Amino acid sequence: MAEEEKRHQIQEEWPWRELKLPEQLMAEKIRTLHATIDGEWGALPRTACQTAAGRALWNHVIHDPMAHVLAGESFLKTLHEKMKKDKLNNAREVSGVILAVRTLWFDSKIEAAVSFFGNGAQVVLLGAGMDARAYRLSCLKESNVFEVDFPELLQMKAALLQEALGSAEHRKKELKANSVTSVAADIRDSDWLEKLHIRGFAPEKCTVWVLEGILYYLPHPNAIQVLQTIAAKCLVTRTVLLADFMNQSSVSLSNSTFHFYSDWPEQLLPALGFPYVELSQIGDPDAHFGLLNDPQNLFNKLRNLPRSIQTNPEDGSPCCRLFLVEASGFPKQST
Ligand SMILES: C[S@@+](CC[C@H](N)C(=O)[O-])C[C@H]1O[C@@H](n2cnc3c(N)ncnc32)[C@H](O)[C@@H]1O
Repeated sequence: MAEEEKRHQIQEEWPWRELKLPEQLMAEKIRTLHATIDGEWGALPRTACQTAAGRALWNHVIHDPMAHVLAGESFLKTLHEKMKKDKLNNAREVSGVILAVRTLWFDSKIEAAVSFFGNGAQVVLLGAGMDARAYRLSCLKESNVFEVDFPELLQMKAALLQEALGSAEHRKKELKANSVTSVAADIRDSDWLEKLHIRGFAPEKCTVWVLEGILYYLPHPNAIQVLQTIAAKCLVTRTVLLADFMNQSSVSLSNSTFHFYSDWPEQLLPALGFPYVELSQIGDPDAHFGLLNDPQNLFNKLRNLPRSIQTNPEDGSPCCRLFLVEASGFPKQST
């Protein structure tokens, strides 16, 4: 098919064929805030804007009205270009699809856990980044949400939301959760749990811990420490952990960015104190969401290979996997 024809077809088929930036993003103050992110932030906090851009551009399956403003123009443009290129090349996996599946998986598991706990559960987002679940998931209406991240990120997020949503009163109206509280902490430090307590985390309350896109940025001992700290909560109250894990091959893609990995989280987590663990891979029935229909796509191919295999025998490529894991535990007397 001629290039021009292909381009035309994309324009017909894809809801995001042209990048349409919302007017809010053009506001002077929001542009200034994003100029600070673009010019001054390091690679780690910037990943928060990359994932927000993914939610913004996969908005045909993810409803996140805050995502564009939180992502910013430069991250949106970069991802949009990649998606367009993938589509032009008829790629089996379009950029951002992993993120879309991961977001939908976490959404569905958060909803299930909160409803299992009877709606009063608190939700802690470690490495919350530009996550706007407190503003978009109505299942959180009785939940207090705690967002833990670096201070500069939380301050920037608050400033962007203030510009986008206006007065405190209006922001409260837009909030879907019962409350949302920022907790400025570095989770590699030993005092992050204490900081969470100071900000109102109630240790006796049922808790859903959300570790989305965070564990692999931590050095191994810190990741283990964080998981052990959460596992210890299983002895105190009904506890659910939702987390994604990279395997060793995935981390090897960029050893300067990624650190912690586990090839067998379903063995690691019980050893750390979680009695129950369920693991899914991208493309499994609960991690699919109609986005991975081609049996030949990378994720479906990987799912059909034994997990012990590190290299794809078909083409010699590394078997890079992302595991979506739900672990839980309860004090003995509770059911
Ligand atoms: C890839 S983003 C994921 C953000 C969000 N969970 C999401 O899925 O959109 C990783 C986030 O973890 C935060 N982060 C990384 N290391 C951290 C640390 N040691 N302490 C607190 N936050 C951290 C970063 O600032 C960033 O916001």
